[in-house]
Amino acid sequence: MKKIILLFIISLLFTSCNQEEENSNQLKGLVTEKAMVVSARAEASKIGTEILNKGGNAFDAMMATELALAVSYPVAGNIGGGGFMVYRKNDGEIGALDYREKAPLAASKDMYLDTEGNVIKGKSTSGATAVGVPGTIAGVFKAQEKFGVLTVKEVLTPVIALAKKGVLVTKKQEKRILKHQKDFKKVNKDTFIFLDPWKEGDTIKYIALANTLERILKNGRDEFYKGETAKKLAKFVQSNGGIITEDDLEKYEAKWRTPITFMYDNLKIISMSPPSSGGICLAQIMNGIESFDLQSYGHNSVKTMQVITEAERRAYADRSYYLGDPDFVNIPRDSLISKAYSKNRMRSFSFEKATASKDILHGSIKITESMETTHYSIIDQYGNAVSVTTTLNGGFGSKLYSSELGFFLNNEMDDFSSKPGEPNMFGLIGAKANEIAPEKRMLSSMTPTIVEKDGDLWMVVGTPGGSTIITSVLQTILNVHEFKMGMQESVNQPRFHHQWLPDMIMIEPNQFEKNIIEELRNIGYTIDERNSRLIGKVDAILVLKNGKLEAGADPRGDDTAIGF
Ligand code: GLY
Repeated sequence: MKKIILLFIISLLFTSCNQEEENSNQLKGLVTEKAMVVSARAEASKIGTEILNKGGNAFDAMMATELALAVSYPVAGNIGGGGFMVYRKNDGEIGALDYREKAPLAASKDMYLDTEGNVIKGKSTSGATAVGVPGTIAGVFKAQEKFGVLTVKEVLTPVIALAKKGVLVTKKQEKRILKHQKDFKKVNKDTFIFLDPWKEGDTIKYIALANTLERILKNGRDEFYKGETAKKLAKFVQSNGGIITEDDLEKYEAKWRTPITFMYDNLKIISMSPPSSGGICLAQIMNGIESFDLQSYGHNSVKTMQVITEAERRAYADRSYYLGDPDFVNIPRDSLISKAYSKNRMRSFSFEKATASKDILHGSIKITESMETTHYSIIDQYGNAVSVTTTLNGGFGSKLYSSELGFFLNNEMDDFSSKPGEPNMFGLIGAKANEIAPEKRMLSSMTPTIVEKDGDLWMVVGTPGGSTIITSVLQTILNVHEFKMGMQESVNQPRFHHQWLPDMIMIEPNQFEKNIIEELRNIGYTIDERNSRLIGKVDAILVLKNGKLEAGADPRGDDTAIGF
């Protein structure tokens, strides 16, 4: 009997040791004691961390990191765009901030159609006609004003210093600038800083942007929306054929929103609500797969890929039909994120054969992908967490650059549905819910997300990637929760994506086993494996069982974690 009791105790000890070790045997990301910033550029993560080190909190660091990305990562970091923040304070309070761009007052439903009702190519993607009213400055001020503890001067000073000192060009940045220079020339009347032949190791100084930020520091948020900057910005956009007025800027407001929350096993997922589709789609996909035993099927196995693909197919079909700006359309939010709804949607799925997207709804489209949004994750030394995704939409947005003000303007108007049934630049088909109207916010896929495990802060996660954002966030969470990976290991994994239409599984090239691809093809899936495609560029933080933080900084970019 004694022996049995002893064995029982040993086995209990062994189990609890194992659980303690869970997710920790593959640690490769930076591990810090209490605070961390993970973003697309080391310069931005460093400034965010310095703000925390000074005693600032996650909301001060949010403002600093966002604006430091506007300086150091101009392909997507911005003050000419917009974004979303999801937060969780150390007392468990959660919330979300929407600083998405909106359509100008003079915008109209058919503004991108010709007289025959066809979409005019390029009008919603390129140049001044593509620009939505920017929200970033309103967003960072709203967040910092409500929750920050430092002065705006303390937060902005290092950002302005960075813009003046300049930022080193990385190899990836050299390639990106080169790739877009032809479009820069097409869109801009005059030559400007990004038309120079920048090479890796060069330093780009952003003096005009530093001057704009200095005026914002002096005059506050209203400088951008009512001051000299507003006047110059409206004039600049109009002189290039756009319709944004001083009135548009003056009327812009960032808005507090209630995040989407739902349970998946013992995880509580907190994600972005409309006008982003991110939270609702993520909920629908996770609700659809929850009853399947992914762990036993294995990571990126045929069965796991099938289940995830079929749940994605069904969620993206709903996205197109139901979702838009909640201030303009009624969204059946509670029904869409109910477990019963997604379970029911999955009833038509069988492991024997792929469902055809045309049987869910029909359409046939071509896809062009852009990765060019950016995400950063922050946990401060007080236990507050913010998850922020911000964007110009395409790489360098509309490509329209104000040399006087020092920044690129977004091409976010393309995220509206220019014509129901027509795909946007991500291949996403829109419906009436996302048609253009004055002052309406365009639908997004951005999915800044925070996850609690058993009631405690567990993960902060998000990514760029257009329509692939939602599915990249999904796989990052599943890799840790279902497949017991560490944070960095999870971020490094090859990713796949399905978005209902086009009816194909996109996969990152040369990463998936040939026999898995063959098997999927045999049961009816079309696999699209294109050269040099990246799906997502995830920046995430995991709270380990010992309370330390592990980073997942995506090696697909120059992404870097810094903390203490
Ligand atoms: N512009 C990309 C998105 O909002 O999803």
